[in-house]
Amino acid sequence: MTHRILILGGTTEARQLAGKLAARASVMLSLAGRTESPVAQGVPVRSGGFGGADGLAAYLSKTGTDLLIDATHPYAAQISANAAQAARMAGVPILALRRPGWEPVEGDRWTQVDTSGDAAQALGPARRRVFLALGRQEVAAFEAAPQHHYLIRSVDPVEPKLAVPDASYLLARGPFREAEERALLEKHRIDVVVSKNSGGEATYGKIAAARGLGIEVVMIRRPDLPDVPSAETVEALASIVDQLGVDHFVRPVDERGV
Ligand SMILES: NC(=O)c1ccc[n+]([C@@H]2O[C@H](COP(=O)([O-])OP(=O)(O)OC[C@H]3O[C@@H](n4cnc5c(N)ncnc54)[C@H](OP(=O)(O)O)[C@@H]3O)[C@@H](O)[C@H]2O)c1
Repeated sequence: MTHRILILGGTTEARQLAGKLAARASVMLSLAGRTESPVAQGVPVRSGGFGGADGLAAYLSKTGTDLLIDATHPYAAQISANAAQAARMAGVPILALRRPGWEPVEGDRWTQVDTSGDAAQALGPARRRVFLALGRQEVAAFEAAPQHHYLIRSVDPVEPKLAVPDASYLLARGPFREAEERALLEKHRIDVVVSKNSGGEATYGKIAAARGLGIEVVMIRRPDLPDVPSAETVEALASIVDQLGVDHFVRPVDERGV
């Protein structure tokens, strides 16, 4: 019998993990369905919300899922909370892939805030040239500070456009290297970067570039996430799954077949 793993994804690591685990289990990767043209995932994918924790618990039971893995983005707090609750409700083990956040290093000029609304306030009253490397959902908060020039980069178009007089838009999908990010900041004469503390390599380029140019970064802190067993890397999580497989779900099922 093949074991069923549901991976809640929407991140590069989730896709990598799904590829790695697909050799040893039946893997389903779940995406929220927000991105208009998601990159090919290489494993079976389902798309769209489950209908809260209840809906996810029902899905886990209906599909006979043996293990739930929360590999969503660290700022996707709602789905992570739902996952922890649904796993409890359905009696299914859960693991989370939690990539560590970035820490400021020598030369960084970070102002740390809790929300995108706080970030808009932290820009101050004087006009600045601001790079918003944030998702569509967060940029609306900057309408509260219409005095600035905004350069907004997102994977999908920001619709509706921001109700501010001076904004330009860039569509791009990472990874972004430091040299490209530095060139972008210089070209647009950016004097402050607003970022989430995503962690990982793929979007660190702008942070390193800002440091090199002596530019301030307004860093939006991570939300609180539920306390579930977790690993920091794809490799570490895959090896926990292997151990779990031996101790908890592979062996009992294998024995049934003997
Ligand atoms: N937030 C970010 O900065 C960010 C950055 C990069 C990628 N992402 C990815 O984009 C997706 C949405 O992020 P978000 O911040 O909007 O999430 P969220 O606020 O935590 O979740 C909102 C709702 O979207 C649905 N959902 C979210 N992730 C899902 C998934 N992987 N599969 C099925 N349904 C999902 C759930 O709907 P129901 O309650 O109906 O189940 C959830 O309640 C996530 O998959 C996340 O990994 C987010």
